Parts: sequence; C-alpha cells; structure tokens
Amino acid sequence: MELQNRKIVILGAGHVGSHAGYSLIAQGLAEEIVYIDIDQRKAEAQALDLFDATNYLPSRAKVRAGTYADAKDAQLLIVAVGPLPDMSKGQTRMDTLHQTIPILKDVVESIRTSGFSGIILSISNPADVMVHYIQSQLNWPSRKILSTSTTLDSARLRRAIAEATGVDQKSISAYALGEHGESQMVPWSAVTIGGKSLTKLRAERPDTYGKLDLQAIANRGKEAGWTILGGKGSTEFGIASSIAQVVRAIFHDENRILPVSVLLDGQYGQHDVYASVPAVLNRNGVEDIIELNLTPEEQAQFDRSCQTMKENYQLALTL
Ligand code: 2OP
Repeated sequence: MELQNRKIVILGAGHVGSHAGYSLIAQGLAEEIVYIDIDQRKAEAQALDLFDATNYLPSRAKVRAGTYADAKDAQLLIVAVGPLPDMSKGQTRMDTLHQTIPILKDVVESIRTSGFSGIILSISNPADVMVHYIQSQLNWPSRKILSTSTTLDSARLRRAIAEATGVDQKSISAYALGEHGESQMVPWSAVTIGGKSLTKLRAERPDTYGKLDLQAIANRGKEAGWTILGGKGSTEFGIASSIAQVVRAIFHDENRILPVSVLLDGQYGQHDVYASVPAVLNRNGVEDIIELNLTPEEQAQFDRSCQTMKENYQLALTL
C-alpha cells in the first residue's frame, strides 16, 4: 500500500495565503503545499521562503509554486484570492464583492477543469457569499465546501470576553455567528465560562459578571479586524491560525465543533444560505450542524444576518 501525502493547494500567495501556509507547516498539518497565484514570481517566492523555513521547523513539507494540474491529487484546496477591504474608502468586506467575483469566475473554471475532488476551504471575502458562489457554480457537495468565516471573529470575541472577565480565553466558549462581517451576531445565551452559562453567572454575580457591557464586548470582537487592518494594512496571523484549526479538524478526523460558514438547509429556519454556525468537522468535511437554542431576539439577529448574505449572493449571481 502506498502512503499518501497530505497535499494542500493554496490559491493566492498574498498575506492570508502565505501565513496560512506557514501555520499549516509549523503545525505539521501537510506534507505538500502548492501555491497558485496569477503573480507566478510571487507564488514562487512565497514557496521558496516557506520551504527555507522548514529547515528549522519540526516537520518536513515540500512547498512549491504550481498550476491547477496540481489540484488533481490534493485533498484540500484553500481559496484565498481577492482584495482586503480598502479602509480609506470605508469599504466593508461585503463591498469587496464586485472586485472578488471577476477573480472567482476564473478560479471556478480552473477548479472545474482541474480534476480536483477534495474539500474546498474558502477564505476570500465576503466570505459567506463567496463560498456560496463557488459551491453553486461548481455544484460542489455542500459538506465538502465551507468557509472559516466567523472562526476568526469567534476568536476575537473570546479574546474580548477574556479581557473583560480576566478568565483565559480558552476557558470561554462563545461564538460570533452569521456573517464574517458587519451583520454578525453573538448568541450570548450560549456563552459559557468554565462550563457555566454566562447568563447564570450574571444573575449570581451582579457586581462582576452582571456589570459586563455585552454590546461593547461584542463590538470589540467585531471591530478587531478593522483595528488590525488599520494598524498594519493586513490581517494574517489570526486568519492563518483559524485556517489551521479547520484543517486540523478535517485531516485529523477530529469531529471538532467550530463556527464555520456552511450551507443551511433548514437549520436555524434558514434555507439556501451560507452562514456561520457551529459545525462538526471531520475527514468528510461538514459532518453535522449544531442548532443552538437561540432566544427570539438572537434568532431575529441571525435571520437579519442571513438576509444580508442572501441579498448579496443574488447580487453576486448578476455580476
Ligand atoms: C479579517 O477579518 C479582513 O476579513 C479579514 O481579518
């Protein structure tokens, strides 16, 4: 029996693609990474830089630039193409739709003819609409195509809750759901700290947990992307770690639950829309979707977020 390499093709050798590659290699999650970028020299340069790094990393991986022909025997394809929102123009992630769709049209055609049949992890913004666009254009099985989406916002939210409570972020379970963008929402009724519901903690400890400004905390999580983008012109480490977590859950067949954007087919009362919800991930991709018991107010917020995605998906189809 021949041993198979875990091979990942990364489309886009920019900030996100390059940092994703580093995280994947540093965490020993792939034996082979192939970069594809319209800027071939850049793809080669990123690959070379990363391959050099493997000299001093615990696990070995081959990193190189390639073409779509390399996707044929890859297990995973990461789509990280398109621009970051231009803050100087007040662009949101959703506003980048018009720039990303023309790029994705080529990407979709290239994936279609490449012979690739694995799992697609799309990062390109606006994340939830773009992953839906790719899925529908390729008619890809929905369990095999997802976006990290609010995996990243949920990390930012947990950091914000940790700062406000003094509890380590890894002891906090909390999700930002819906859009990786402005309409995301936080189901506070599902937040637990050390396994205890935050709602209960607030009632029992009015002088500490009860005083938390939940809206301000949610905003701090949501705004983090803008703070980072404004300060250094790109966001990369957070998203790269989020990608690695999702890839780990898939390659290690973990059945791990992460907030990712998946195609909803009746869950949360929503149909034909990609939105972030907690999902069980394993080697099949999206194995299951966890339906939280949202309060009526949270459900209304989630529905509004889905409506944003639905409208922009319809717009994407006309571009
Ligand atoms: C992020 O949130 C800009 O979508 C990118 O880091």
